[in-house]
Amino acid sequence: MFQGLPEYPWQKLKPYEQIAKNHPAGIVDLSVGSPVDPTPKIIQDALNNASSAPGYPSTAGSVELREAIVEWFGRRRGVQGLPVDQVMPTIGSKEMISWLPLMLGLGPGDVVVQPKVAYTAYVVGAALSGAEIVSEDDPEKWPSNTKLIWLNSPGNPDGKVLDVPELRAALKRARELGAVLASDECYAELGWGRWEAERIPSILDPRVCEGDFTNLLALYSLSKQSNLAGYRAAFAAGDLTLIKALVNIRMHSGLMMPAPVQKAVTVALGDEAHVREEWEIYRKRREVLLAAVKAYGFEVADSEAGLYIWATLGEDCWATVQRMAELGVLVVPGEFYETSGSEYVRFSITATDEKINEGAARLGNALGFKS
Ligand SMILES: Cc1ncc(COP(=O)(O)O)c(C=O)c1O
Repeated sequence: MFQGLPEYPWQKLKPYEQIAKNHPAGIVDLSVGSPVDPTPKIIQDALNNASSAPGYPSTAGSVELREAIVEWFGRRRGVQGLPVDQVMPTIGSKEMISWLPLMLGLGPGDVVVQPKVAYTAYVVGAALSGAEIVSEDDPEKWPSNTKLIWLNSPGNPDGKVLDVPELRAALKRARELGAVLASDECYAELGWGRWEAERIPSILDPRVCEGDFTNLLALYSLSKQSNLAGYRAAFAAGDLTLIKALVNIRMHSGLMMPAPVQKAVTVALGDEAHVREEWEIYRKRREVLLAAVKAYGFEVADSEAGLYIWATLGEDCWATVQRMAELGVLVVPGEFYETSGSEYVRFSITATDEKINEGAARLGNALGFKS
């Protein structure tokens, strides 16, 4: 049996979940980033209408789906002229992230770079392939044997957005190294503040890559923007050679997006209204929770896009998790996202309005950290 993966970190949160559950008014679980609002009707209908699917689906994606992805990249991400054979569906983004190093043929002696504070799947992918993981944001410090670089903008857990100059610097260094640059962009439609008016740039944005997609991959998921986490609906786009090779491996190994989901994604990508509605719901939840988190005494870092508030009381993250659990509020310790997060916790805004209001009220009624 493969032994290279540690126990799933969320097990460590269980005792704190129990403390929070013991709160007389019940738990307010702000730990998970799993959407709670219903899947929009228009997407449910598309799935239902495609429910007869006797034959195998296309691994590369139906032409209709790929055209919808290309159109979406042009309309929403400012990426024009992406050919249809340079996009492909994935079964959610997580499998793609976890298997990409292996699919690229990486192994011992190779380095996979991830952000200093990082979503947990990048390290899993490195471990599955036997490559070394290096957590480093400064492109100049990426080692010479780097073969794959993960960017995550907007970031989980910190909500940090990489702007055009930052993406260009990453791309320049990746080109020097001859490494694949993969950008995980699944929160790109959920910008706040500056990013409500300005488009969050993709790695494929012409201001970044000037139309040259060599060695680039952009990953996007409908889990968050469309409440589709249960459908496993995502896609990747970029370098022609990479996409072709990945489709080939995926075809051999049976990694196909189910046909009804392909239909549902096609419809979802064409509809902006539901994305806007969900954005508005999250905007309000974030406003309520952010104010309460700050009033309690937290310092908030980044958190300029996405579904999380990344905050610190300047103490060990587990002490903060305990403090919050005693209020019946469950948050995630930053340690889950690499050591540089060890004084931070992550609050998720993917809870119902009622739960967000309740969580905010509990923080407000508590004496607060500074008092
Ligand atoms: C940064 C990031 N990437 C990828 C994913 C995976 O998304 P999915 O597999 O649902 O597409 C998540 C989910 O939380 C995430 O936060």
